[in-house]
Amino acid sequence: MAFLEWSDSLSVKSRLLDTDHKRLIELINKLHDASLDAQNRAGAEAAIALLVDFTKTHFIHEETLMRKTAYPQFIPHKIEHDRLIKQIEDFRARYAAGQVGLSQDSIVFLRTWLCDHITKVDTYLGAWLAKHASLITE
Ligand SMILES: [Fe+2]
Ligand SMILES: [Fe+2]
Repeated sequence: MAFLEWSDSLSVKSRLLDTDHKRLIELINKLHDASLDAQNRAGAEAAIALLVDFTKTHFIHEETLMRKTAYPQFIPHKIEHDRLIKQIEDFRARYAAGQVGLSQDSIVFLRTWLCDHITKVDTYLGAWLAKHASLITE
């Protein structure tokens, strides 16, 4: 069984957001796998980099959709995104400098953050996007 599994309870009823969230789950699982092999620092650094980069990409996707549809909760939602980016960037730098390891606590933190953010914050965005689909043009 994977460290974090996708389930319908994580769907925010937006195909685009769900697709990104599934990718994030995949990357958290890769990071978890990397954490089980303490000797493979290069593998862990690569897994951290993939997760940081895709998290940024995903947040840009959401923030672009929020702007396009004049989402009323844009600012508090973006504050949560910015805070996590800062934390994971900071972690990437400290890991690269050999100041911290890839602990189970840090991966459990990411899993909890993602699931909480999806179910408590992104859910509202998904519902809003469904109602304002006409404002979203490619
Ligand atoms: Fe999200
Ligand atoms: Fe979000």
